[in-house]
Amino acid sequence: MKLWILFGPPGAGKGTQGDLLKERHQMCKLSTGDMLRRHIQTGTPLGKKIQSVVDAGHLVSDEILLELVRGGIEEAGDQEILLDGYPRNVAQAEALDTFFPAQVGAVFHLVVDEAALIERLSGRRLCPTCKRIYHVVTHPPKISGSCDDCPGSALVQREDDREDRIRVRLAIYERETAPVRDFYRKQGLCYDVQADGSVETVCSRLTDIWEKIQSVANTPRQTE
Ligand code: AP5
Repeated sequence: MKLWILFGPPGAGKGTQGDLLKERHQMCKLSTGDMLRRHIQTGTPLGKKIQSVVDAGHLVSDEILLELVRGGIEEAGDQEILLDGYPRNVAQAEALDTFFPAQVGAVFHLVVDEAALIERLSGRRLCPTCKRIYHVVTHPPKISGSCDDCPGSALVQREDDREDRIRVRLAIYERETAPVRDFYRKQGLCYDVQADGSVETVCSRLTDIWEKIQSVANTPRQTE
């Protein structure tokens, strides 16, 4: 089992790239945002407890996240796992190391400037049924407001994609999440990936790095 971390600010494209990589490389994707939103949507006790925190753009507690992520990783068994949205602070990164030592293969840091992030987030729409991600300008559905894959499913805007919440999330990212990069840089695991091109271009960049890491890991060591 290996963990591949998609890392970056809100709107950098973690979910979009995670879906593509999962499909193309038969990996398991664990998105903590999707897991939490599923609880909210289905009205579980956890969903009721966290809804106001998520809608406001704040972070949910480390204890709740660790339990969700541990469960998801253990359930995935031997599969390669793409983590989207975790870890989100240094305490979460340390917890991941404690429970899954030496399992992180790489951290892909998606780099996008702030103006583009705001544009991406404010135009994002989601299918509430299959969770497919759209954008009103750059990736619109075939019929305005409806999911291409789920007949009759009207696209929605996330509560935390309102402009005031976007600013809160970006500030929390800088304060709490950005230091996670240095945590992994020190371990030689962090790769910066320019994520301002088209979705396909970014996916090729990620795939190139991922394949290089895999080929180095699979090259037998020379013995003297
Ligand atoms: P989460 O769902 O993880 O939100 P996020 O990190 O803020 O990231 P986003 O989902 O907003 O963006 P993304 O990078 O996935 O971009 P996307 O691919 O959708 O978390 C939500 C909340 O849950 C948190 O605020 C927190 O409350 C809680 N939470 C989650 N994890 C937690 C944790 N570990 N600890 C504590 N709390 C946690 O793309 C965005 C838009 O851009 C889309 O419209 C897309 O079509 C478009 N787009 C993507 N790529 C491109 C491109 N290359 N060119 C043009 N447009 C593009």
